[in-house]
Amino acid sequence: MSGAEPDYTLHREAPSVDDYCRLRVISGLSPKSREAALIGLPNTVCGVTVTLDGKAVGMGRIVGDRGCFYQVVDIAVDPAHQARGLGKKIMAALMDYVAAEAPDGAYISLIADGPAKHLYAKFGFKPVTPESIGMAFRVSRT
Ligand SMILES: CC(C)(COP(=O)(O)OP(=O)(O)OC[C@H]1O[C@@H](n2cnc3c(N)ncnc32)[C@H](O)[C@@H]1OP(=O)(O)O)[C@@H](O)C(=O)NCCC(=O)NCCS
Repeated sequence: MSGAEPDYTLHREAPSVDDYCRLRVISGLSPKSREAALIGLPNTVCGVTVTLDGKAVGMGRIVGDRGCFYQVVDIAVDPAHQARGLGKKIMAALMDYVAAEAPDGAYISLIADGPAKHLYAKFGFKPVTPESIGMAFRVSRT
């Protein structure tokens, strides 16, 4: 990249429903309904949004029970702004929260998609295989 770095701003809050749904889709994550996002986003334990000129270009969240279990979800950067360190900034902010707030023994987990595992490894996350595997169940009402 040439020239000055864009003036990104990191906000310690979850994105709006519109930005959340948009960022998931443009970053290639599975779409979430507005209905689901309206219920889920207010239950965020720790949210981060990165904006450029007021527009959301990246996000990440931690959800969980605030004691025993936490999950890192929705790590996504607009493809036009990837590979500029935003993913690392988002993860660093989320892990700041963990360092400050999570009690001894808390278990922080995530499902790493593709090359994102390299990002999470930088923050101390380790594969749980072969002893364990991630498993998931998706609700379908259509
Ligand atoms: C994963 C994602 C959030 C990373 O965001 P980003 O802003 O591009 O990441 P950064 O520029 O901060 O790079 C972070 C680190 O991740 C690693 N990384 C990111 N993409 C990588 C890739 N395609 N291959 C290998 N390593 C990669 C690198 O180690 C990099 O660190 P380095 O620059 O010091 O080598 C972004 O690529 C994205 O939104 N992907 C699509 C959605 C997604 O898959 N989210 C994760 C779901 S689990």
